Amino acid sequence: MSEDVKKQLQLSVSLPHGSKKRLRKSKSSKRKVSEPTQIAVEISATVDTPVKQTAPAKPKAEPFDVEEAMTVVFKPNPGPQTDFLSASEREVLYGGAAGGGKSYAMLADPLHGLGDPNFSGLLVRHTTEELRELIQKSQELYPRAVPGIKWSERKSQWTSPQGGRLWMSYLDKDTDVTRYQGQAFNWIGFDELTQWTSPYAWNYMRSRLRSAHASNLGLYMRATTNPGGNGHAWVKKMFIDPGASNKSFWATDIESGETITYPKGHSKEGSPLFKRRFIPASLFDNPYLSDAGDYEAMLLSLPEHQRKQLLEGNWDVNEGAAFPEFDRNIHVVEHFEIPDSWAKFRACDYGYGSYTGVLWFAVAPDEQVIVYREMYVSKVTASDLADLILQAERGDGTMRYGVLDSSLWHNRGDTGPSLAEQMNQKGCRWRPSDRSRGSRVAGKNEIHRRLKVDDFTEKPQLVFMDNCKHTIAQIPSIPLDKRNPEDVDTHAEDHLYDALRYGIMTRPRSSIWDYNPAKQRTGFQASDPNFGY
Ligand SMILES: Nc1ncnc2c1ncn2[C@@H]1O[C@H](COP(=O)(O)OP(=O)(O)OP(=O)(O)O)[C@@H](O)[C@H]1O
Ligand SMILES: [Mg+2]
Repeated sequence: MSEDVKKQLQLSVSLPHGSKKRLRKSKSSKRKVSEPTQIAVEISATVDTPVKQTAPAKPKAEPFDVEEAMTVVFKPNPGPQTDFLSASEREVLYGGAAGGGKSYAMLADPLHGLGDPNFSGLLVRHTTEELRELIQKSQELYPRAVPGIKWSERKSQWTSPQGGRLWMSYLDKDTDVTRYQGQAFNWIGFDELTQWTSPYAWNYMRSRLRSAHASNLGLYMRATTNPGGNGHAWVKKMFIDPGASNKSFWATDIESGETITYPKGHSKEGSPLFKRRFIPASLFDNPYLSDAGDYEAMLLSLPEHQRKQLLEGNWDVNEGAAFPEFDRNIHVVEHFEIPDSWAKFRACDYGYGSYTGVLWFAVAPDEQVIVYREMYVSKVTASDLADLILQAERGDGTMRYGVLDSSLWHNRGDTGPSLAEQMNQKGCRWRPSDRSRGSRVAGKNEIHRRLKVDDFTEKPQLVFMDNCKHTIAQIPSIPLDKRNPEDVDTHAEDHLYDALRYGIMTRPRSSIWDYNPAKQRTGFQASDPNFGY
């Protein structure tokens, strides 16, 4: 289904008002031509169902007002709902504020294909009770939109007169996926995706997305949801973190952040596999709910974090988050070239088996600190990391200093230089981070202080460039330590957070007079008083 064709989505009811000429010679039209429930479906040119009921006017017909004669059954609201229904990406999430018209759009989406005998769709909710509500809505919409469509309670399935099928079902536990084993669908929808605690069901169902007749129908996975819920974190990693809102991006692995590619040995080996898109929803996009204002008032009365999720559709708030004040609209800035004169430095938290996080900072003349680059890598040796870092900052000019997790100066056994020395020897110079008692809490407090919007300048003292995707994803989702709310939970993914903390605690200053090159460690010194052998 091409994008253009999808965009034509508009379902309409023709109310003939006694005007026989607009009726197609279908069985139903022969039966009761003047009944005001005859239906015209204007979905797309590819659907061979009652597409456009524009039969040529008979010579004796009386003139009639087309506008008056047509009553729209379903018309997407302009903006996100229309974007969702015309999206061509393989996987799309329509997510955000409550009441934005997400579930309704999800019901309308399979109407594109139901007129095709080969169409096979599956729409799931987490539990049977939640499914009921969706089925009820479909029973209001479908019979009016697709004349002759039949609902089978036993099979929980819609079948159009042409044979297109839509199964409305539930998928609660991971083991429920076996219900769909051996089945093939060309359209799969998950309503309220964050109700699934893990991505297991979504990933499994991707393997059911195939069709021998898919050439003109396309293959689509569609999801809707509010932020929050058990699956908030994985849904955010899959759809929100990797790309800008409402922009296509190549699907990434949610753990590594790497683009998913065709496997070794495939003719397209190494090419990206498919695209995803996140379409943000707002209550104000749905005049059916927002115009009255009551629903908005109800959402406004919710506690702050729920209000942010359900009214503002904000994905960065999470109960128990250590940095609830982090706000993409305030703390993320578009990438720009850092002037040569600004002070620059970097910070690193090293981990071979897990991840290494490196951040580069610049200090603006007004002392605002800008995190302008990140590196997030796994299984890279200290020596290779030094090469990668030097390569990344080649065009950056002078790097005033680098601060690295001080444990990297520890001797490992009794042979060889420490990891810090290995990097220093390569010319990637570092000084050790502060690891004294209380430094973790002090670092957290300092980040809070810098994230706060200054009353006078109306700016925070710490911002992140939009290319630092992993950092922007990690900082707002890092949880508080339940036993010590003064600190973050150290079991969470915190390598970039630690790098940020090390960097922020170096008292960054824009003035060059604060720069003391004497303290910079310039390389391996055999008898260093503090860290040497
Ligand atoms: N294009 C439309 N045409 C007619 N009615 C619409 C349309 N879009 C939404 N609505 C109406 O708005 C109501 C709310 O929309 P919907 O249930 O889809 O919101 P939602 O975003 O799924 O909300 P929630 O976040 O609470 O699940 C629907 O029940 C429907 O009556
Ligand atoms: Mg809904």
